Amino acid sequence: MGKGVEVAVQGLSKSFGRANVWSDVTFTMPRGEINVLLGPSGTGKSVFLKCLIGLLKPEAGSIVIHDTDLVRAKSDRLYEIRKSFGVLFQDGALFGSMNLFDNVAFPLREHTKKNEKEIRDIVMEKMDMVGLADAEKKLPGEISGGMRKRAGLARGLVLEPEIMLFDEPDSGLDPVRTAYLNQLIVDLNQKTDATFLIVTHDINTAQTLPDNIGIMYHKHLAMFGPREQLLTSEDPVVSQFLNGRRQGPIGMSEEKDADEAAAEAASGSDKKFELPAMKDQIQPTDGGSREAEGRRRERVLGMMHTLPPKAQEAIRKSLNLQGGQGGPGGSHRQGDPRGGQMAPGQVGQAPQSGWFQGDQRR
Ligand SMILES: Nc1ncnc2c1ncn2[C@@H]1O[C@H](COP(=O)(O)OP(=O)(O)OP(=O)(O)O)[C@@H](O)[C@H]1O
Ligand SMILES: [Mg+2]
Repeated sequence: MGKGVEVAVQGLSKSFGRANVWSDVTFTMPRGEINVLLGPSGTGKSVFLKCLIGLLKPEAGSIVIHDTDLVRAKSDRLYEIRKSFGVLFQDGALFGSMNLFDNVAFPLREHTKKNEKEIRDIVMEKMDMVGLADAEKKLPGEISGGMRKRAGLARGLVLEPEIMLFDEPDSGLDPVRTAYLNQLIVDLNQKTDATFLIVTHDINTAQTLPDNIGIMYHKHLAMFGPREQLLTSEDPVVSQFLNGRRQGPIGMSEEKDADEAAAEAASGSDKKFELPAMKDQIQPTDGGSREAEGRRRERVLGMMHTLPPKAQEAIRKSLNLQGGQGGPGGSHRQGDPRGGQMAPGQVGQAPQSGWFQGDQRR
């Protein structure tokens, strides 16, 4: 299957007419890692995904994949690059009149010259991967929402994408189906080593699925970094979001007005809340590891010294490092956790800049 590719987003801004959705979005999705994008409704997460696949055009900034800036690419090059994206839209976006087989086969018939035998092999392999091997003759209207999502996922995978985008794959699913779907996403990431970006409102998904988390807020990418960094952050926006509380800077219309926030502060209801405890990341079913894990380990160790103490502690724990030494189950190199052995310029520059820029803004 296709190998993942790094996606470098720099200074990206998007408006509709005079209404700005977000601006100056800067971060890098590392090759093959699982990234989650959080943020209150209406902050422009879906718009961001649409900009990535070229359905919408940002007015400023760049999106660089394989040395090509998608914002400025000529249409034939853009068409080529678009084939490296797989997308799972919110409702699976299946064609209601086609059975699942034809739905999943659609991108192959549209974009490749493969014969029907080759198409059948690929479609059945992907249907099998998502657990729909016996459902190929069913129409989308005859199956459950969870099955529709998995069919959408199979369709997103047929062109062997280097980048897979998921817009709320878990919306409308019960907690058990969500757990299965998240496990499937981890297993698919292991099989494909493609770069994943998942938009979700599910806190448990955010806690257990990703390597990195970003949060859209206040017309910016407020933060982007390793999951341990966001999940231990004391930033009021992040902690309110992860706790699902009313008290905090986020209101029903995204931002509370100053009066409301001041009243909350005066009544003492803005006191600090404990963050939910860190949970373990979901591991591949076969007990093996994902290729991205090793690369991420190096990257995160290299940026460790730039992170707050709580994030460092959480990373040491999740990477199985004791007292700053490479511990059991970790890589074999005995190392300074500050990443003295990293190749210069290799590590986490964009995540850092995305993170700290956002922090300074508030
Ligand atoms: N094609 C469009 N034309 C004009 N405005 C748009 C268009 N698409 C989105 N918007 C606006 O952009 C803003 C962000 O929308 P978007 O759908 O990206 O939010 P979101 O973060 O995905 O929200 P949710 O979590 O509810 O899905 C909204 O104010 C929306 O009305
Ligand atoms: Mg959306």
